[in-house]
Amino acid sequence: MVYVANGERYSNMKYNRCGNSGLMLPAISLGFWHNFGYNESFENMRRMVFTAFDCGITHFDLANNYGPPPGSAEENFGRILRQDMRPYRDEMVISTKAGYRMWPGPYGDGGSRKYLLASLDQSLKRMGLDYVDIFYSHRPDPNTPIEETMYALDSAVRQGKALYVGISNYNREQTEKAYDILRELKTPFVVHQPSYSMFNRWIETDGLKDYANQIGIGLVVFSPLAQGLLTTKYLNGIPEDSRIGKRTGFLSEKDLTKEKLDKIVALNEIAKKRGQTLAQLALVWVLRDGKVTSALIGASRPEQIVENVHALDNPVLSQEEIEAIERILNG
Ligand SMILES: NC(=O)c1ccc[n+]([C@@H]2O[C@H](COP(=O)([O-])OP(=O)(O)OC[C@H]3O[C@@H](n4cnc5c(N)ncnc54)[C@H](OP(=O)(O)O)[C@@H]3O)[C@@H](O)[C@H]2O)c1
Repeated sequence: MVYVANGERYSNMKYNRCGNSGLMLPAISLGFWHNFGYNESFENMRRMVFTAFDCGITHFDLANNYGPPPGSAEENFGRILRQDMRPYRDEMVISTKAGYRMWPGPYGDGGSRKYLLASLDQSLKRMGLDYVDIFYSHRPDPNTPIEETMYALDSAVRQGKALYVGISNYNREQTEKAYDILRELKTPFVVHQPSYSMFNRWIETDGLKDYANQIGIGLVVFSPLAQGLLTTKYLNGIPEDSRIGKRTGFLSEKDLTKEKLDKIVALNEIAKKRGQTLAQLALVWVLRDGKVTSALIGASRPEQIVENVHALDNPVLSQEEIEAIERILNG
């Protein structure tokens, strides 16, 4: 590969087994939710993909609606694959999803068979792929029988358009139902994608984290940096080129409360004592007990990816550090 931020290669990447499956995923994966739409620099996207791959990140996470506009992240990734990455296809795990509003009318949203299978065909076309490695139901749909959504995932595999399937944003109870159906169908259901970070611990209280481990399903956790809050970038105000500063609508000034900022400052002190950045500490924390397969980060520039993978240079938190972090988070 040609571009690596600061000419760096990273060889400490760890690959974790995704649940009980044969699939190995990197401890850190890269997502395309932000910074891969038409309004961004294509050259920066290429550099981020190359940097990630050179750092051992083999898993790239997309969804039909990533952009803006929806579909553009898959199209841009397709362009990068075509131009540069095609020879490496078998070294990559590419995932996509359907579940949020994608096109007008009653068939462009939710969990119906009609929507999911049409959307997967569109995603494959945009990326120029014959199959994705993982196809997800992006969110539970209360208006569609869960059997229908799960049968659609199963069909995607049987049609050869996905190797594995996953679900995202399903709570523990919904996951139990999905698991029972997919187990009966013998569908390769290997992964769940929930949100999880020091600021967002719902998978612990809901029981999903333990349940996924109990049934042997991998956990690829998204927004482990709380969309950038768990870094040092907001310590001295709001940079214009940050996710809050860019006013994407997904993270706003209101999310940066005084209470949160105090916690960010205190957590940063722990990170410094470990010789890490706060972003690195936040990643080590989600991976701390071996129950999470991969921390799914986003990035706006290649240097962030390099910084983040270096979290794995110092991956073990001591009991004292874990307790000190608990005190800050509960304080
Ligand atoms: N399944 C779902 O429903 C769902 C929902 C959301 C996300 N996801 C997936 O998860 C992926 C990650 O989500 P996310 O982007 O919210 O994750 P995140 O890792 O919590 O936040 C990423 C953002 O943090 C900032 N950042 C990253 N590394 C940094 C560093 N070292 N120093 C300073 N700032 C840093 C960048 O924002 P700046 O722009 O401020 O630089 C970056 O875009 C998405 O791309 C998507 O694939 C899935």
